[in-house]
Amino acid sequence: MSGDPTYGRDLGTADEVAAAQRAAAVVRSSHEASHRHATPTRAAGSRLSWPTLRPHALPLVSTSAAGRSRRFEDKVVLITGTGGGQGRAAALRFAAEGAVIVGADVKTAGHAETVAMVEGEGGVMTGSGTLDLTVADDVEAWVQQAVTEHGGIDVVYNNAGVFKMGDIATLSLADWTWSVDRELTQVFSVTRAAWHHLVARGGGAIVNTASIAGVVTLGEGGGIVHAATKAAVVAMTRDLAVSGATHGIRANSISPGTVQTPATQEMFADPAGREAMMGPQLIKRLGQPDDIVSAALYLASDEASFVTGVNLVVDGGYTVR
Ligand SMILES: NC(=O)c1ccc[n+]([C@@H]2O[C@H](COP(=O)([O-])OP(=O)(O)OC[C@H]3O[C@@H](n4cnc5c(N)ncnc54)[C@H](O)[C@@H]3O)[C@@H](O)[C@H]2O)c1
Repeated sequence: MSGDPTYGRDLGTADEVAAAQRAAAVVRSSHEASHRHATPTRAAGSRLSWPTLRPHALPLVSTSAAGRSRRFEDKVVLITGTGGGQGRAAALRFAAEGAVIVGADVKTAGHAETVAMVEGEGGVMTGSGTLDLTVADDVEAWVQQAVTEHGGIDVVYNNAGVFKMGDIATLSLADWTWSVDRELTQVFSVTRAAWHHLVARGGGAIVNTASIAGVVTLGEGGGIVHAATKAAVVAMTRDLAVSGATHGIRANSISPGTVQTPATQEMFADPAGREAMMGPQLIKRLGQPDDIVSAALYLASDEASFVTGVNLVVDGGYTVR
């Protein structure tokens, strides 16, 4: 268990929690004291010199013997959309930092491949390769199984999403509803199913994948439902942050720009499509799944313990101008 000793599933009884909080308070106050006393001194005619500060009593990031960061040692991390793309990258990266991964996808072969990759790296991954996240009862069962197998939930990473293209003149009502189910309602269903487990754990982190499509218009690409659902994910995340505050639950969203995944393969294979998306960026390359997952790891970790309700835009500068 890394970071704040008050955050963790090992703390069962109220007495244990109170003891851990007292211990944390002692650590905090001694750490603050070391900084309070750190005033600069100046010998006559010399430059200011700062006394050496005591190092942190607790490391913000725990590391393995090999020196690798292990921010999620033994934490249970739910990740949706583990059949490929960013979900696969997330499973690999969280597992590499010590997490137990519980994945979900309808792409059975893709999900199985991800499980094999995680296990090949020495990680632990369970979950389902046949779960349709739009079926709320099945989502409940998947979450319950995670709790039964692993004892609780620490992180919920709502990554999965898919939508139909079309603008107001062309998108059918059926395609609108289909997309809302997969980009918005399933985020709600997964979070709702996991919520009381996060509360029971005494806290946790939610990371929701939105999109820059919910922040700015991407032009005449015909993504009206994508724009609407991703803006809604950002707004819903703020609401989750408010509801979670008293339970130690933080909720943040990430808005990726261009990311090279199976979902965008066709668009980026076309030079015109590639240029249309990359043109406005300040950083002239396509985003990679790891660019987004790095942000998710930060937001889910104790390093972001003062960050909630934020929408972190990771887009190579697409939305700056
Ligand atoms: N790729 C980009 O350029 C980009 C940009 C902005 C936002 N995003 C968002 O990032 C997230 C991940 O996208 P990606 O690019 O990795 O796409 P992807 O298609 O490679 O992966 C998404 C996965 O989610 C799964 N999924 C979707 N709905 C599901 C459901 N109902 N039940 C089970 N599984 C389901 C899919 O089967 C797929 O494996 C999505 O929310 C997407 O909207 C992507």
